[in-house]
Amino acid sequence: MTMSGGLALCCAALLLSITSAACAIPRLNSINDLKKVNFGQAVPKHSLVLLHWFANIIDIDNNDVIRLNFDPNLGTYGSHHYGNYERMLNPLPPGYRYYTLGNVNQGQSDLPDYVLNPPDGAFRGRNRDRIIFRMREHDTGWQNDETADEVYITQHYENSYEGTRYDPAHTYQITINLLREIRQFSAEDNQSNSLTELREAFGSNIDDSQLRSLKITWRELACLGLLLYMVLEEKYQRHNKPPPAAKRNVQPHCVVDIPENRENHRDVLKSWRQSHGGGGIQLEVTTESKGKAGILWRGVPKHRLKEGAMVVLYKDNNAQEAMYSHVITSDSGQVNTSVALNVGLQARLHKTKRKFCFWTVPAEEICRGEEIRNPEKVRIHGYDASLQLFVKDGKACARLFVNRAFENWKTEFKTSWVGFYANSNKSTEEYDWWQWQWATKFKPASIPHDHYHDVYEYHSSMPIAPEVQARFILRDEIVLAQTPSWS
Ligand SMILES: *[C@@H]1O[C@H](CO)[C@@H](O)[C@H](O)[C@H]1NC(C)=O
Ligand SMILES: *[C@@H]1O[C@H](CO)[C@@H](O)[C@H](O)[C@H]1NC(C)=O
Ligand SMILES: *[C@@H]1O[C@H](CO)[C@@H](O)[C@H](O)[C@H]1NC(C)=O
Repeated sequence: MTMSGGLALCCAALLLSITSAACAIPRLNSINDLKKVNFGQAVPKHSLVLLHWFANIIDIDNNDVIRLNFDPNLGTYGSHHYGNYERMLNPLPPGYRYYTLGNVNQGQSDLPDYVLNPPDGAFRGRNRDRIIFRMREHDTGWQNDETADEVYITQHYENSYEGTRYDPAHTYQITINLLREIRQFSAEDNQSNSLTELREAFGSNIDDSQLRSLKITWRELACLGLLLYMVLEEKYQRHNKPPPAAKRNVQPHCVVDIPENRENHRDVLKSWRQSHGGGGIQLEVTTESKGKAGILWRGVPKHRLKEGAMVVLYKDNNAQEAMYSHVITSDSGQVNTSVALNVGLQARLHKTKRKFCFWTVPAEEICRGEEIRNPEKVRIHGYDASLQLFVKDGKACARLFVNRAFENWKTEFKTSWVGFYANSNKSTEEYDWWQWQWATKFKPASIPHDHYHDVYEYHSSMPIAPEVQARFILRDEIVLAQTPSWS
C-alpha cells in the first residue's frame, strides 16, 4: 500500500467514526434497562459485578456529582487515562479526561476478592470488561475530591486482532439514576432483611427458596446476587405480572404511597440513607399545631452556617419548587411553616445566595431528609380488610382496604365505624367530637393500588397531630383495629 493510500484510508475511517460512533452509545437508566443488555452472550456477566463494585465505591451527592475517592492517575484498580482516539465516546469538553479501570491483572492488589474471583464461577470474567468514566481535571493535581460525571461499561474485542481497542457496539452509558439503583444492592451492611425489601421495591418474582440459595452462594453479597438474578433471569418478566406483594400474600407496606410510574426507586427503601453528602446532618419534617409542617435540623457544621445555609420545604423528593424557606444561623433548631402537612413533604438544606443584593434565596443543595410517610395499615382483626391512618392537607384521614373476595363487607360492617382519637390512651367513647364515620359511608379512593383490594377513604376535619390514631369499631365497644399513632 502506498503512503498516500494508507493516509486516505485512515482519514476515511476517522471520519466515519466521528460521524457514526459517538452519539450512538445507548444509555441505561434503570435496572429494567440493564435487562435489555445481552449479558452472558455478547457482554461478559462479569461486567455486572464490576459495575456493582464501582457504584458502591463512589459517592454521589444530591447534585448528581460523583466523587471518586481514589486517584485514577495512580493506577488504582487498574485505572489509566483513556485517550478515546477511536472517538468511541463524545469529544471531551475542555478540562475533562476519560479514564478506564477494571483490568484485573493490574488491579489485583486493590480490587476486592469478589470482583477478582466472584463466588459463583459463572461470573468470572476473561478480563475484557472495563468501566470508563469522565473526570474533571484540576490544574493543581489530585485534590482528593475528584469528581466524575459520566460512566460507561465497555469491553475489549473478543478477537485479539482488534488489539486493545474497545468495542463500541457493546459500550453503554450508565446514568446516575442507574448507579443509585445499583447502590441499593450494596454489600456493606448486614442485609438479611433488606433482601426481601429489595425484592418488593424492585418487583422481583424471586421466591423464598431461591433467595435462600442466593444467600448460600453469595453470603454477605446476597444483595448483589439478587441484582444479578433480576438482570439475568427476569429479563422477560417486565411490567406484565401481578403485583409481587399480593401474589406472595404479604402485607405490602407502602404500596399506596408510591406512584407506579416513578422510575426512581430511591425513596422506596429506608436503607437508602440520605446521609450521602450530608455528613451527619439531620433534616426532618415535623407535625406542628393545626396540621402544619415544621422543619427540624440538627448537626449543621459551622462552616456551612458561615457560608450561609437555609432549610427549604419541598412537596416531595422529585419537586424542584420550594414551598417554604428559612435561613438558619444555628447548628440545630426548628421552624414552623404555614404549609399544611401532606405525605411526601421533604426538607432539604441549601447554600444561600443573594439576589438583587438584599434578597437571600436558596442556591446549591447540601443534603435532604426523608419524605414524610403515613403509618402502615393494620389488619382489621378477623376480616380480610385493613385500616390506615393518613394525612391530607393537614387533616387526619382514614382508608379502608377491603379484599374483593370479601363481598358482603357492607352487611358485615353495617354498624361499624372509624373514629379518630387524640392518643392511644383514650377510651373507645373518647373519640374526638364528631370525628368519626360509618365504614359503609367511606368514599371510593382514587389511589394506585393492587387488583385484590377496593379502597375507601374518609377525610375528617380533625387536624393531624402527634399521637393521633384511628380505630375501627365493629359495633358497641368491639375495637378490631388501632392504627399506629401519628409521629
Ligand atoms: C451479620 O449477621 C450475622 C447473623 O445474623 C452475624 O453472624 C454477622 O456477624 C453479621 N455481620 C456483620 C458484618 O454485622
Ligand atoms: C412551633 O409550633 C409548636 C407547636 O406546634 C410550638 O411549640 C413551637 O414553639 C413552635 N416553634 C417555633 C420556633 O415557633
Ligand atoms: C398513656 O398512658 C401511659 C401510662 O398510663 C403514659 O405513660 C403515657 O404518657 C400516656 N400517653 C399519652 C399520650 O397520654
